[in-house]
Amino acid sequence: MLASARRRSEGKHDSVYGLEWGDPEEMWSLKLVRDQFILPYVDPDRRALEIGPGGGRWTRYLLGFGEIIVVDRHRELLDELAKNFSQPKIIPVLNNGTDFPGVAANSVDFVFSFGVFVHLDAWIINEYLKALGNVVKNDANIVIQYADFRKKEARRQSGFARNNPERMRKMVDAAGYTVLEENVTALWHSSIMRFRKKRDGEVMY
Ligand SMILES: C[S@@+](CC[C@H](N)C(=O)[O-])C[C@H]1O[C@@H](n2cnc3c(N)ncnc32)[C@H](O)[C@@H]1O
Repeated sequence: MLASARRRSEGKHDSVYGLEWGDPEEMWSLKLVRDQFILPYVDPDRRALEIGPGGGRWTRYLLGFGEIIVVDRHRELLDELAKNFSQPKIIPVLNNGTDFPGVAANSVDFVFSFGVFVHLDAWIINEYLKALGNVVKNDANIVIQYADFRKKEARRQSGFARNNPERMRKMVDAAGYTVLEENVTALWHSSIMRFRKKRDGEVMY
């Protein structure tokens, strides 16, 4: 039985799978993610892409976009999301864990991922950064939360990747992006950054 179905049968968090990790309506650090890293970019004339939506804990804040592509490597999670949100503008894409099958080149304005890159090893992050370069527009904002092993809470999580802001910045820079904004303090076991493709001649440091 899916954890969410079990929770529903127990009468807990009966709406969205993932709220047990924290509700952005209630926790200040997650509110900050919502208010600083998502809501300023929501635009009905633009197209968003979310990697690893789970039950839609964050997808609900993306609903103001004209179209939302939700990419997940597990069919059952895409099915779970579809149960929570039956909106024609949500386009599910089943991937292999690093790619964007069927997503047109240069077609995405905003990318968001939370609770996914915290588990990804460097080579998978690098594959994703490369693949993103094909599908995003030049001025697209990309927001990724990742594991921050400088923090004790990250080291206590099983399955967290040994990442940190310095490593993440280097990977993002090497993949051809410029970091525009970061928060390395608000989240207890991770950090978050917003970046976009480098412009001609632009150097990050
Ligand atoms: C821990 S859940 C987080 C869900 C949601 N983003 C949230 O914060 O509530 C991780 C999600 O990412 C998906 N996932 C895990 N590895 C992935 C990968 N390499 N590519 C795409 N999706 C992945 C899982 O199937 C699941 O939907």
